[in-house]
Amino acid sequence: MIIKEGLAKIEIPDYNNISKEMPVFYNPLSSIGRDIAVEVASKLGIKNVLDPMSASGIRGIRYYLESNIREVHFNDINPIAIEYIKKNLELNNIKEGKIIISNLDARAIEQKYEYIDIDPFGSATPYLYLINNTSKYLAITYTDTAVWTGEKHRKAYIRYNFNVIKTPIKHEIGVRGLVAHLINKGAEIERALIPIYAHSAYHYYRVYMLKRKGSNRIEKLKSQIGYLYYCPKCYYISESESVCPYCKRKMFRIGPLYLGKLWAIKLDKRDYFNKQSNKIIERINEESEIDKPYYYELPSIAKALKTNIPPMDKIMEKLKELGYKVERTHFSENGIRTNAPYYIIKTIFSSQ
Ligand SMILES: C[S@@+](CC[C@H](N)C(=O)[O-])C[C@H]1O[C@@H](n2cnc3c(N)ncnc32)[C@H](O)[C@@H]1O
Ligand SMILES: [Zn+2]
Repeated sequence: MIIKEGLAKIEIPDYNNISKEMPVFYNPLSSIGRDIAVEVASKLGIKNVLDPMSASGIRGIRYYLESNIREVHFNDINPIAIEYIKKNLELNNIKEGKIIISNLDARAIEQKYEYIDIDPFGSATPYLYLINNTSKYLAITYTDTAVWTGEKHRKAYIRYNFNVIKTPIKHEIGVRGLVAHLINKGAEIERALIPIYAHSAYHYYRVYMLKRKGSNRIEKLKSQIGYLYYCPKCYYISESESVCPYCKRKMFRIGPLYLGKLWAIKLDKRDYFNKQSNKIIERINEESEIDKPYYYELPSIAKALKTNIPPMDKIMEKLKELGYKVERTHFSENGIRTNAPYYIIKTIFSSQ
């Protein structure tokens, strides 16, 4: 069957449902991650990319068609995928530039590129050896989000040494836990992996990092790894207090988490992108202006206070009137990121 996505069209074998068992993997929900990926690559001015787990080739093909990248190395361990990558390059009339196709275990690829996009099933940690294949930028997908959010908290500890329980802001916690993990993995090989963009969408997280040398850079990154304390009764979150000031009970310590800036660049929407991708781009452009490593999930506050949720725009207006910064977040439809303290939000809820 032929699929259209972005400026590409690709052929994949017919399938009944999306699973790892597909003869050649393709997931339409990942098109959001791919939209954002081509926009990141364009903004960073990248010229060449390694796509070590290409499947149909859609990702590398979109990089070629939609950014300034003219050199793509496609690779997949699955020989049927290789046949389809070749077909799809023809289908999209990709002839110029430098195209390499290989059928290897990704970890056996020797060439180095300016940018590498690691996109496996599940956890990408077994493939982090590939950090050596990039001279500059790393894009990475993790689809084991239920582990990072704390829904599978025992696995989070076993797999990643990550202490987490499910919270109302589970995806931001997940992404920040993942970024801390990647920074620590980079540090193991004495490289600074500096976050430049990150988002969650459906079943996956995507993180973009700049790889640099230098102990000072690594130390600076590590100094931004810490913990958040969370009260499971009233949902209060704190960067420093370990006892909830409202419930007087011990809070759960979540981490290690990267507490620094997740976003160093702003992206542009494109009219042919999926609506959802443009929404994420817009929300991140806004929320990245607010320097706070967590947001407030409004329904959980209403639940803790046993009250209704005031309309979101009213809450935002009130916070602005009081001189605080406030924006929506891409992590949740019901969340706001603000530099206002929790008690101010509670007052707004109580005075409705
Ligand atoms: C999630 S899919 C990649 C999807 C693709 N990047 C896209 O955007 O549509 C993961 C791919 O990794 C391939 N794969 C699994 N283990 C691999 C390995 N060790 N080395 C290279 N490829 C591998 C699978 O055959 C599969 O095509
Ligand atoms: Zn509490």
